[in-house]
Order: sequence, then C-alpha cells, then structure tokens
Amino acid sequence: MILSSAISSRPFHHPEPGAPLHCAKVSLEVLARRFGTPLYVYSADQIVERLSLFQHALEGWEHLVCYAVKANSALAILKLLADRGAGFDIVSGGELERVLAAAPEAADRVVFSGVGKTAAEIDLALKAGILEFNVESEAELHLLAARAAKLKKKARFALRVNPDVFAETHPYISTGLREHKFGIEIRQALRMYKSVAGNRWLLAHGVSVHIGSQIRSAAPFGAAIERVSKLVGQLEREGIVLKTVDAGGGLGIDYHGGSFDAPAKVAEYAATIELALGGFQGRLLLEPGRFLVAQAGALVARVLQVKRNGNKTFVITDAAMNDLIRPALYQAHHEIVPVRPRAGKARTVDVVGPVCETGDFFARDRKLRPVEPGDLVALLDAGAYGMAQSSNYNTRMRPAEVLVEGARARLIRRRETIADLLAPEIL
Ligand code: LLP
Repeated sequence: MILSSAISSRPFHHPEPGAPLHCAKVSLEVLARRFGTPLYVYSADQIVERLSLFQHALEGWEHLVCYAVKANSALAILKLLADRGAGFDIVSGGELERVLAAAPEAADRVVFSGVGKTAAEIDLALKAGILEFNVESEAELHLLAARAAKLKKKARFALRVNPDVFAETHPYISTGLREHKFGIEIRQALRMYKSVAGNRWLLAHGVSVHIGSQIRSAAPFGAAIERVSKLVGQLEREGIVLKTVDAGGGLGIDYHGGSFDAPAKVAEYAATIELALGGFQGRLLLEPGRFLVAQAGALVARVLQVKRNGNKTFVITDAAMNDLIRPALYQAHHEIVPVRPRAGKARTVDVVGPVCETGDFFARDRKLRPVEPGDLVALLDAGAYGMAQSSNYNTRMRPAEVLVEGARARLIRRRETIADLLAPEIL
C-alpha cells in the first residue's frame, strides 16, 4: 500500500490499522491537540541512530562527524548530538553561539565554513578555540592571520578547495564546480599553503571540500576526495603535513516513497571516501546535515479548507511556505500523508498554504487520500532545512517544535507570539 511504503525508513508509522500516525510511541493527534499546529515533530531516536551509522561506518579511521548546524539548529538537537560525540560545522557567528549555548564543551569540535566570514565572527571563533577554519579565499586567509595575530591565538585552518566535480542535484544546492562561488581553485591551493607556511599565527591543519547537497550517488564524493588526496600528497612532499581531511556533507536521502536503506547508503559512502583517501594518516571529518535529521522530522498541519476552482481541488492547510519553503524554492518533493486515514479513493489535489503567493504550495497534482477540514496531515522528511529556513512572511508566527524520545515528547521551542514578532520594531 502507498502509505506504508511512504513511511518506511522514517520514524512515523501507524501502530495498527485505523490508528493515527505516530512518531515512535507518540500519537501526532495528541501532539497537535497539546501544542497546536503547524507543528514540527522530530524523533530523537532516529537522529541518534543516523549519527551512529556514520560513526560505525568509520570505526576503522580516526574521524569526527561535524553535524551541519544549518540543517536544523534547534538547541535541543545540537545537545542531543554533542552528547553522543558529534562535532559541528557552522557557517556563521550565530551558529557558533548556538553550539556554545547548547554544548559549550563541544567548542573544540567545531569547524567554521562559509564564503564570507566577518572579523567579528572570526574573533568569536578564535576565542572559543574551535577546531578549524575552513578558509574559502586568499583574502580570507589574510584576514584570519590578522585577527589571530591581534588576539595572539593561533588559528588552525583548512583551505576549502573547489575540486571541479559535477554532482547531480538541484542547481541551487550544487557547489563543487569552478563556476560556483565556493572554495579555492584546487590548482591554487598548493601555492597558498606554501605562501603562509612561515606565519606564526596560522597552522595549516587540513583541507576541506564540499561538492553540494542531496547527492544520491557515492561516486562524485570519491572523485572529489581523490583530487584532495593528490593535493595532500603534493603538500607532504613540500613538508606540509595535514592533520585532517574534511569531506563536507551532501549525502542525499529518498524523499519519495521507495524503500531506502540508510545503513547501506552510509556504508557505501564511507567505503568510497576511505578508498579515495588512500594512505592518508590523519583524521577524517564529515559534515552531514540532511542525512541526520531530514527523515526524523515531520511538519504536522491542519486542513483548513478543501476547495474546488475549475477542475482543480485545493487542500488548504494552516502550514505555508513560510514554515517549509523547500517545495516553493527547489520544487522539492515531500510526501504528504493524512494523520488518520479515511476510507475512500485517493484524489488528485494541490496542497497549499494560506500565504498570498501562487508559489505557496507543498504539492501539485498529488494523489492524496481523502481529507476534510479539521483533519491533520503530515509533511514527511521535513526535519532538515524546514524550520531552519522558516520565516515570518505574512506576519505568521513560526511553528512550535517537539522532540520525541521513546514514549516521551517534549516541547523544544514554543510557538512564537505576536509580541515576539513585534519586539524588535520601533514605531
Ligand atoms: N557543509 C557545507 C560546507 C555546506 O554548505 C552544507 C550545506 C553542508 C555541509 C550540509 O549538507 P547536507 O549534508 O545537509 O546536504 N536548503 C537546501 C540545502 C542547502 C545546503 C547548503 N549547504 C535544501 O533544503 O535542500
């Protein structure tokens, strides 16, 4: 049946026929009643399990899994991961503040990526004693050297190289080609490492690469790491011995209803990277985001209206593009399932939100089991880049967030109020 295959490899399931959709042992109906809708619900168990897939697959190598905070930056999720040994990949001072608030002891497990770091952000990270700066340009390397000298703190850096590797994904989230804004041309890297070899405030610590996001095949990761390994060898011959290779993030999930074997995917990915690393003796860093949190999360929404215009049927929910922008921004597919399935044939509908934009849709021409006003629906695989990319467009309050641990559910972010939204404004 469509429904059961749509939710395998996800923590959402019907414990028995006719029962409402549950996250682990907790009914989404109960959560919606208690915390209102729209509501993000995450399974802590699945997040932990996904982290351990990477940790186990890399057992034979010295490694650190640095969760990409941008995918879902909820403090409670950061703490959950930090407690299980994860490090973090951050891209702003704000994300560093989140890590410091959730798990200050993890500061030395942080790598700082991003194409435009300000002096203030660099200072914050130097003072926090992060593991490594992933530097994306020559000018940034000089800025880092200047800030490190000023604060008298040695900065460990990696050059983020652009390997010029093509990876099949949406053009907005592909990053590994020369024409993209990311990284340093790999041919320039050797010269840059050498140019700062004598600088007493900079330590050439590693090299990093990130070729894009939602990449389903392992091959492009292998191709990128092979190029990086070649560079590591060249550097060694020049007497520059790196301690880390950071392979970035990007491993994709299956947003559709097919069967998806997450452990096999991680094993294949890890084996490909290890093979490409060859004889590298140092530590492997990874920066997965989506793979750890996407399938653990659902956005639960209530149906407000079911309306017909011409020959189209629109299911209007109380969640909108401001809560989950992926369909509008990347034409992304999210499975949508009724929380309590009704009898009857699936109908072809558009599932849309109340925002005043035609782009405010979750699904177009989608076969959906019958729903009526007042019913709950769950948008699956919404744990990554969902809440993290939400906004207050149309002066809509952002959803609350709940973390489910076994039979226990706890609020990890309360629903915003109008007072929260108006607070920064000056009349
Ligand atoms: N490391 C770096 C340097 C990154 O730029 C990213 C993602 C990651 C790691 C994590 O990639 P992941 O493992 O999550 O694929 N908003 C888009 C995705 C943007 C990804 C940006 N960078 C979406 O909703 O699909």
